[in-house]
Amino acid sequence: LTIRREDYRPPDWLVPEIALDFDLGAERTRVRATLTVKKNGEHDRPLRLDGDEVKLVSVKVDGADAAYRIDGEQLVVEIAGDRATVETEVEIAPKANTKLMGLYASGGMLCTQCEAEGFRRITFFPDRPDVLSKYRVRMEGDARAFPILLSNGNRVAQGNGAEGRHWAEWEDPFPKPCYLFALVAGDLKANKDSFTTMSGRKVDLFIWVREADLPKTAHAMESLKLSMAWDEKVYGREYDLDLFNIVAVSDFNMGAMENKSLNIFNSAYVLADQETATDADFDNIARVVAHEYFHNWSGDRVTCRDWFQLSLKEGFTVFRDQSFGADIGSPAVKRIEDVRVLRAAQFPEDAGPLAHPVRPDSFIEISNFYTATVYNKGAELIRMMATVLGPEKFRAGTDIYFERHDGEAATCDDFVKALEDGSGGDLTPFKIWYSQAGTPRVKARLDHDAASRTATLHLEQSVPPTPGQPVKQPMPIPLKTALIGEQSGSEIAAERLLILDQPQQSFTFEGVDETPLLSINRNFSAPITVSADRGDDELERLAQADTDPFARYEAMQELMMLALVAGSRGEAMDPESVIRAIGATLKSNSLDPAFKGEAILMPSEAMIADRMDMVDPDAIHAAREGLRKSVGSALSDVLLFAHRSDSVSGADLSPQAKGIRRLRTVALGLLSAGDPQGAARLAKTQFDRADNMTDRQGALGVLVSLDAPERQEALDAFYQRSHDDALVLDKWFGLQAAAQRPDTVDQVIKLAAHRDFVITNPNRLRSLVGSFGANQWAFHSADGRGYTFLADMIIAADKLNPQIAARMVPPLGRWKRFEPKRAAMMREALEQIVAVPGLSKDVFEQVSKSLA
Ligand code: ARG
Ligand code: ZN
Repeated sequence: LTIRREDYRPPDWLVPEIALDFDLGAERTRVRATLTVKKNGEHDRPLRLDGDEVKLVSVKVDGADAAYRIDGEQLVVEIAGDRATVETEVEIAPKANTKLMGLYASGGMLCTQCEAEGFRRITFFPDRPDVLSKYRVRMEGDARAFPILLSNGNRVAQGNGAEGRHWAEWEDPFPKPCYLFALVAGDLKANKDSFTTMSGRKVDLFIWVREADLPKTAHAMESLKLSMAWDEKVYGREYDLDLFNIVAVSDFNMGAMENKSLNIFNSAYVLADQETATDADFDNIARVVAHEYFHNWSGDRVTCRDWFQLSLKEGFTVFRDQSFGADIGSPAVKRIEDVRVLRAAQFPEDAGPLAHPVRPDSFIEISNFYTATVYNKGAELIRMMATVLGPEKFRAGTDIYFERHDGEAATCDDFVKALEDGSGGDLTPFKIWYSQAGTPRVKARLDHDAASRTATLHLEQSVPPTPGQPVKQPMPIPLKTALIGEQSGSEIAAERLLILDQPQQSFTFEGVDETPLLSINRNFSAPITVSADRGDDELERLAQADTDPFARYEAMQELMMLALVAGSRGEAMDPESVIRAIGATLKSNSLDPAFKGEAILMPSEAMIADRMDMVDPDAIHAAREGLRKSVGSALSDVLLFAHRSDSVSGADLSPQAKGIRRLRTVALGLLSAGDPQGAARLAKTQFDRADNMTDRQGALGVLVSLDAPERQEALDAFYQRSHDDALVLDKWFGLQAAAQRPDTVDQVIKLAAHRDFVITNPNRLRSLVGSFGANQWAFHSADGRGYTFLADMIIAADKLNPQIAARMVPPLGRWKRFEPKRAAMMREALEQIVAVPGLSKDVFEQVSKSLA
């Protein structure tokens, strides 16, 4: 069952060419595949082709009926010589394909998702990323149902067939692994545009959607053109075909997929306009469009040798999309947002039963490893190497990487080697970040000796044990560090890049004439947790004075965290320094509103839980609500001012306008803690007057947690104006599942029976069940009904779509950290799931590991 990295062997047979012929139908599609196969090395092993839920019709080798056998999920064909032409014919049923892997139907169209192992659900093939082939694809289908026929590469021929049918042929000149194959057939219209590359080639750009959605594609198109220009400028990477297609589909397991020249997207990451999408949605669209586009080089031209190397393309591509986001917006705010995602999604993963290294050593189901660790911690790893090398040397390294491995399936080691060769640096010590799981902890203490005018920083690192890795080695941790003068508030020791690579190490700063405050892990230079011995006064000072915006944000967050942790432990919580710091931040004339909104946002209940030895969700909730109430009451004037200030048009998507809207809703949230009734009226006014989704959703997001008549009025109004727009309806479900109310669990159970709840649609399922699982207080309702509900949903979803079901397991997996009563109920829910007969590999892996 378990696949191990160390067992990698090169493929026995290569497939330099494949021709596919599709006879398309939603109920039944016939696929004929012609593979040119070539023996790889000296051996006498047969050709083994993977297949999953495909009905075999015939097999021929070199035109003659062939001897073959079925071995598990493989078709085994004996081949006499070193080369052969292997033809297979199979039937598949796209409409019955609820796993949304392979060829499936969505809203009347047919589309594919092949990464990681979906191609075997279309035809028999060696479904592994190190088998690269040139594709020629012919497809034929009903011209009315499927007026548009797309695949990778260039369309080389098309024509009409009998009985209202038509066909098209596509050819992709770039050899690719089968996980990058794509096909789309449907009634689609395109937003057409073009981009001229740096060498002067004109590329036609198409974003394909249902006709009614065309007006919502402008932002995705703008983002695509910006991405193309950015990759030329920053990485010297030019697009390599004459056309680039994006297709939006409503049923999609993930965000989007980088199929060569035919990216397929979850419609949530394509469609946006002022009335239906928030500023965050607009940003996510730009991020995902960029991410998939950047994969053209980091993923498609250079792909992965095996799935253990997934972070080779994903970590690097996330780093690239993060850098792009920083360049087109505010770098400081972008960094804060990216770190928040890392802390919310990856740190818990690293601290729980599903912890795994950036380059995993084993898996049962690869779909379970499209994780925040592989993606986001992988990106942090690339970022650390880039930080250590500096931009020029890093670029020299990536140039070598792209040139050396173009057209190849590479490994993470290849990537590091290319960076070393390009930069002349030694990155070997950093490789431990690929293999060692767990979030390193750094303890920091700063000693100041006024007499010798020195300050000494004492650092100590440890990496907690994780499953399969009880004992850890020290890691190289790059820490951007500076000292800030307590009185002057200026940088009294300029920023240095310290590399902590021993269990304990000290660093000395000279010429320190003033009491120094420690500014460490600036810009979050390493993905670690720091516990620096800094009191409220120091943090309050740093929150105003630190010269690194991220460190300022961090000081503010840490200040709030100290109070919240104390409160959660039942200790007295003194809110005064938090109130002063938030007040000062709000009143600052130099900070922009987006930064203010981020800085004063209170750490989530889950983040507080990460600091506790034993989690009591009620205590955490009470502490956080208590602090919010103190702040909301004490600062109502400034908060009202922030809420009211600067009216901006909803059409204005500048960073400034987005920041004003962000701050407005964050302020409203704090106000609602101080004066719920007053805030309910304010929120309803914001809701009614909003000329954009950001303000409307922001207001509703505050209202859903309140007990006021305005709550239901707004929910009903939101539903009325949105019920024919799936993406807006997702918000309606998601907001209610995220509500901070004692009856949220009841509401969620009711919503699961709502006529608009569609369990087969991943977005809808995520919006209700995903948001609920992330709502710590509600999900961990003391009576355990949240757990039973989630277990029931996982069991139901697993019968349809195992990949999505497995993604809902982690909230239950954290049982060890919770107080005994809840822990026992969480375990019980996991046991109930694992006892279900016919459970998928996906859910089995996540649940059994969570119980271990
Ligand atoms: N490579 C895609 C991306 O990062 C994600 C595909 C995930 N597919 C899956 N079956 N888990 O954009
Ligand atoms: Zn990706």
